[in-house]
Amino acid sequence: MCDIGSGAGLPGLVLAIARSDLRVTLVEPLLRRTTFLTEVVESLGLDSVRVHRGRADSLHGTERFDVVTSRAVAPLDRLLDWSMPLVARTGVLVALKGSSVRDEVVAAAPALARWGLADPEIIELGASMLEQPTSALRVSWADPSQVGLAPAGARSAPAARVSSRGKRPRRSSRKGPR
Ligand SMILES: C[S@@+](CC[C@H](N)C(=O)[O-])C[C@H]1O[C@@H](n2cnc3c(N)ncnc32)[C@H](O)[C@@H]1O
Repeated sequence: MCDIGSGAGLPGLVLAIARSDLRVTLVEPLLRRTTFLTEVVESLGLDSVRVHRGRADSLHGTERFDVVTSRAVAPLDRLLDWSMPLVARTGVLVALKGSSVRDEVVAAAPALARWGLADPEIIELGASMLEQPTSALRVSWADPSQVGLAPAGARSAPAARVSSRGKRPRRSSRKGPR
């Protein structure tokens, strides 16, 4: 699995501690935070955890994961653009979201359609323990056969790439699973 915007390790580090059978990549652009994550990973001897310093789109086109997680990183439409190029054909995005999750799904309807995604599933968590339960939003491809074998990074995050002249390339009009 891959956790985008791990910060101090939520939820990626916690999942890695709880599930030593998982191979976990923690993605975080800020040096101070990756230094902390690396120190924790080393001091706990978490051999199956890799800390990647960079934005999510720095991994686009290089690999895909069975599960891509995130918490408190970006609104859903932006999160889809950052996360879906990393989700394998039969993989899922699992985003921990607050009480606005349903509104976010409505607002992200165009992005969900553009990416060719199935209807998101909202799973309420911690209702018996927490005053304010949290929600996990689970999103998968509507038609996994349409997801290219080659990673889709080349066309998935144009805004994040910079051309050799230092100008941002024009935004592609179509994004999708192919
Ligand atoms: C509000 S913090 C949340 C941290 C952690 N997930 C949590 O729940 O405590 C958002 C994190 O996302 C990171 N971030 C921002 N843009 C990102 C991007 N494009 N790719 C990956 N991480 C990003 C930030 O550096 C920051 O650590």
